[in-house]
Amino acid sequence: MKNTVVVGAQWGDEGKAKITDLLAEKADFIIRYQGGCNAGHTVVANGKTFKFHLIPSGILYKNKTCLIGTGTVILPEYFEQEINGLIADGIDVSGLKISPLATITMPYHTEIDGYSEDNAKKGKIGTTKKGIGPTYTDKMARIALKIQDLYSPETLSEKLDIILPLKNKQLKEVYGLEPYTKECLTALCEKYAEIFRPYVWFDWQKGMEDFKKAGKSILFEGAQGVMLDVDWGTYPFVTSSNPIGGGASVGSGYGPKVIEEVIGVAKAYVTRVGEGPFVTELNNEVGDKIREIGHEYGVTTGRPRRCGWFDAVTMRYAVLVGGLTSVALTKIDVFDTFDEIKVCYAYKDTRNGKIYETYPTDVFMHKYLEPVYETHKGWKTDVTGLRSYDELPDNAKKYISCLEELLGVKVSILSVGPDREQTIFI
Ligand code: GDP
Ligand code: IMO
Ligand code: MG
Repeated sequence: MKNTVVVGAQWGDEGKAKITDLLAEKADFIIRYQGGCNAGHTVVANGKTFKFHLIPSGILYKNKTCLIGTGTVILPEYFEQEINGLIADGIDVSGLKISPLATITMPYHTEIDGYSEDNAKKGKIGTTKKGIGPTYTDKMARIALKIQDLYSPETLSEKLDIILPLKNKQLKEVYGLEPYTKECLTALCEKYAEIFRPYVWFDWQKGMEDFKKAGKSILFEGAQGVMLDVDWGTYPFVTSSNPIGGGASVGSGYGPKVIEEVIGVAKAYVTRVGEGPFVTELNNEVGDKIREIGHEYGVTTGRPRRCGWFDAVTMRYAVLVGGLTSVALTKIDVFDTFDEIKVCYAYKDTRNGKIYETYPTDVFMHKYLEPVYETHKGWKTDVTGLRSYDELPDNAKKYISCLEELLGVKVSILSVGPDREQTIFI
C-alpha cells in the first residue's frame, strides 16, 4: 500500500475511522497526527461497534504499530478510560505507542475551555470542552508540558516554575478560576506518568527510521476535517490544529515526500457540530430526515449534528488546500429513499446577486450567501448490500460522476453502510 493520509474533507465526522480501519489492514504503521479526544471515531467491525477518540483506528488489527503522534494533545484521564475500554474488550493494545513529544492537556486547559464556552456572549464556538484550544494555545506560547517531561523530575520542576506563575495569573485574573500549586501539579504528573508509561515510545527515532528504511507502509490518520483546520477552515469556528494533508507531515515527523496519497473522506451530504457558518444547512424536514436516517449525533458529545446538502464549493476548496488526491464518499445509502438529491455548486450573495464558484474566506459574510443547487434524481434502491460499482443504480452512478466533475478528483472508495464489508473500491 502507498503511504496514505486519511483526511476529513468537510467539518468532521465524515466516516474517516471506517476508511482508516479498512486501509489499516494493509498498513504496517498507523499514525494519528493531530487533534485530541475532541475526535469521535466509529469503526464497525463484524457487527461490533468501537468508538475511538485518541487511539488510532488501526488498533483493531494485530501486529500493527499505532502511534499517537507528536501533533496530538492528550487528556490523560480520557486516554486511560479509552485504553481500559479496549483492554476490557479483549483488544491487543501492545502495538500502541505515544510520542514523547505529544502535548499534555492539563486540568486548567479543560477548565478554561469550559469557562470560555459557558461565558461567551458573542462568538461562541461550540467546542467539545476537552481543553483542545487552551492546550494548543499553550503549546504555541511555548508553555506546555510534553509527555517526556513526566519522566524527568528535574525538567518537570523547571518547566512548572516557568509555567505556573503565568498560568495562575491568567486563571485568577482573566477567568476567576482557582490557581494550582506546584505540589498539586507534580502529584498529578506522577499519576500521568504511570498512565502513559507502558506506551511511551522513547526509542521513536530509531523506530521511525527503521519503518522508513524497510519500506513499510504508513497510514496517517487525521481527525476533524479541512473546514475545521485552524489555518484553512471557517476560522474562528474551527478546532486548533491542522487536519489538512500537510498536517500529517508536521504532526508525524515524516517529511512531505513520504506521503504518496491523500484520501479525503466526504459524506454524500454535509454535517457540522458546533457553531459557525454552513451555507447548505437545512433547517427543515429534509435536514431532519438526513439526521434520522444517517444517525447524525456526535460520538464525543452526543449533540445532534446540523445537516445539509453536499457543498461542492467548500469541497473543491478542500481538494486544493487539503491536498486531496482522491475522495472516499461515505453514507450514500442515506439517500436510498430520497426522490431527489441536491448538490450546491456555487454561492449567491443575496445583497448583490454575485455568484461565487470559489470559496469566499470571510466567513462573517456567509450569512448573506445562499446555495445554488443542481438537482439529481434519487435511485430509490437499497444500495447497502452492493459490493461493486457496476451493480450501482444508474442514478447513483450519475450522482457520483457529477461530484467527480465538480471536484476535479476521482471517487476511489464508496461506502454504502457503516460496516467494514459495506464498501466498494472503485
Ligand atoms: P469520523 O469522526 O469521521 O470517523 O466519523 P464518525 O464516527 O464521527 O461518524 C460517522 C458515522 O457514520 C459513524 O456512526 C459510522 O459508523 C457511520 N458510517 C460510516 N460510513 C457509513 C456509511 O457509508 N453509511 C452509513 N449509513 N453509515 C456510515
Ligand atoms: P472527528 O475527528 C466534528 C468541532 C467542535 C467545534 C470545533 C472546535 O470525530 O471528525 P474543539 O473541541 O476542537 O476546540 O471544538 O470543532 N469538532 C468536531 N466536529 N468532528 C470532530 O472530530 C470534531 N472535533 C472538534 O464541535 O465546533
Ligand atoms: Mg467523529
